[in-house]
Amino acid sequence: MASAARGAKRRHPMSRKMLILYFTSLSCVFVLLLVSLFRFHSHKPSISVSRVFDGTPKIAFLFLVRRNLPLDFLWDAFFQVSHLFPFISLYSEIWAMSEWFLFSQNGDVSSFSIYVHSSPGFVLDESTTRSQFFYGRQISNSIQVLWGESSMIQAERLLLGAALEDPANQRFVLLSDSCVPLYNFSYVYNYVMVSPRSFVDSFLDVKEGRYNPKMSPKIPREKWRKGSQWITVIRKHAEVIVEDNVIFSVFKKYCKRRPPIDTSKGKLNLKLQKQHNCIPDEHYVQTLLAMHGFEGELERRTLTYTLWNQSSTKMENKGWHPITFSYSNAGPQTIKEIKGINHVYYETEYRIEWCRSNSTSVPCFLFARKFSQGAAMRLLSQEVVNHFEVSALPSPCPPNFEKGTEEGHAGDVLPKQ
Ligand SMILES: *[C@@H]1O[C@H](CO)[C@@H](O)[C@H](O)[C@H]1NC(C)=O
Ligand SMILES: *[C@@H]1O[C@H](CO)[C@@H](O)[C@H](O)[C@H]1NC(C)=O
Ligand SMILES: *[C@@H]1O[C@H](CO)[C@@H](O)[C@H](O)[C@H]1NC(C)=O
Repeated sequence: MASAARGAKRRHPMSRKMLILYFTSLSCVFVLLLVSLFRFHSHKPSISVSRVFDGTPKIAFLFLVRRNLPLDFLWDAFFQVSHLFPFISLYSEIWAMSEWFLFSQNGDVSSFSIYVHSSPGFVLDESTTRSQFFYGRQISNSIQVLWGESSMIQAERLLLGAALEDPANQRFVLLSDSCVPLYNFSYVYNYVMVSPRSFVDSFLDVKEGRYNPKMSPKIPREKWRKGSQWITVIRKHAEVIVEDNVIFSVFKKYCKRRPPIDTSKGKLNLKLQKQHNCIPDEHYVQTLLAMHGFEGELERRTLTYTLWNQSSTKMENKGWHPITFSYSNAGPQTIKEIKGINHVYYETEYRIEWCRSNSTSVPCFLFARKFSQGAAMRLLSQEVVNHFEVSALPSPCPPNFEKGTEEGHAGDVLPKQ
């Protein structure tokens, strides 16, 4: 009798808890439904997120790499905490609830996806990466990429094409194997998601001779643009890039890298060197979007910081070359300075670009290149991407400690005049 009463007493609070949980989840789902319905109906057509997709929007991180991901350990730390801090201000009215909702799903509601374009046949698994986030994330239709050739932009298009297959992907961030994040995931997520615009570095440079008049009439000279390859685009612009065949084929035909001088070719060199020296990945997306009249839908800057070695210009009559950060020059002060940049000056246009996301002033850069493994280790220990314990590093530095990242590609170094 007494034990039965005790049993009943014990059971009672349990079932009440279950009931409360049950009703809470029901009402949450109901409110979520209402809110999304309301948003759907009240939304005016604009250049913002395509609202056709109604779940948690994802950022697609697109890694364009030569082979493996030397900085996978840093990205691993970046992605580790991501499921805990999903959309915050985007749907602020349901934030409190969505937090509950997402936590209750055991963290399997994710707000990002990863795609890797590596050399054909390269597989990401436990033997090639230390981060589970990258397992099997290589795209199957990858091609051989020659730096400074149109195969580079084709690889970007393949990455975007693969990522577009998931309707949850609403923002697309292109990264190299030497890129690092400068903030934690939630910061990056909010920054990119609240912006209805793409981030595409795009400017006019009338002095450069890369435009080939043979490109007109398909690409008129006034639409020719230059800018960093490292873009972040909204879904609408990603679709335009993937669906384009016209501009891409013009680029394939007329935007070519100047061949290196080959002494065995003798006088033919003169003719070959007269060709326009064009680097497709520094022109393609920006020119294509200008052709489509989408420049009003861009923040005309890149989110990826590059430190240019300007001294090489005078000394060697070469173009600027990006400096690779190593352990010694990736200290807290340097990182703080990069994160403190709030505007960019475009010399050829006399334009100052104040950095904004959805009209709010923000730091200009979310990512940086080119970082060695040592430099990335130092970022990790500075807790730039999350709170991290150095002892949790999966393995010590592999043999190729300061090597193995993105090549200084052709766009960075002009051949000698
Ligand atoms: C993420 O970074 C932002 C900006 O640095 C910071 O304000 C925020 O507290 C960080 N969030 C977490 C969860 O660490
Ligand atoms: C962008 O800013 C506007 C105006 O401040 C605001 O109403 C809107 O909610 C913001 N968009 C997002 C997605 O946060
Ligand atoms: C910058 O370029 C010059 C000339 O090529 C070179 O000597 C110097 O080491 C470079 N600096 C860095 C930091 O890479």
